[in-house]
Amino acid sequence: MPQVEELISPQALAARVKELAAQIRRDYQGRSLLVVGVLKGAFVFTADLVRALDGLDVQVDFIAVSSYGAATETSGTVRILKDLDMPVEGRHVLLVEDILDTGLTLRYLLDYLSRQRPASLRVCVLLDKPSRRKVEVPVDYVGFAIPDRFIVGYGIDWAEQYRHLPYVGALREEEGADRE
Ligand code: IMP
Ligand code: MG
Repeated sequence: MPQVEELISPQALAARVKELAAQIRRDYQGRSLLVVGVLKGAFVFTADLVRALDGLDVQVDFIAVSSYGAATETSGTVRILKDLDMPVEGRHVLLVEDILDTGLTLRYLLDYLSRQRPASLRVCVLLDKPSRRKVEVPVDYVGFAIPDRFIVGYGIDWAEQYRHLPYVGALREEEGADRE
């Protein structure tokens, strides 16, 4: 298995999640919020974020998508593997995603959710790789901007490995890790 280099420590992640949550609490004060986590990659981030939103009226749902098949990169054809359980119409929705890379996945999800007429729709991503963008996506909350490395940990996988790491890391390239 490829070696992982720690990029963002558990402490730095916790501190940033707290800051994002403070911003979100201010923005949604007095409103009822539906947080939608994108599985599987955002499951840890979503869990930490919603627990920092105490004081807000929050409901949590998940949508599961697959954008990386055997191919190296997002094709733009996103498949919904598990749809939302709750109706989105008239709700203030905050979509929570692990990584914004080319933007194709979030673009697809934003279009998909917009068609269901939410009262508002915002995006929170933990990690942004701005150098790889193919389509512009409006993002409201960003944890960290990162360089173009293959990221794992804190929910994010390489071939279903490393999701359980408590930090965000990058695969060491000298180990010959290819994009999955
Ligand atoms: P996009 O559609 O190219 O923006 O890709 C976003 C999706 O690709 C994210 O939801 C991630 O699941 C996945 N992804 C992008 N970069 C990485 C990475 O470095 N490691 C693991 N998954 C990634
Ligand atoms: Mg993902």
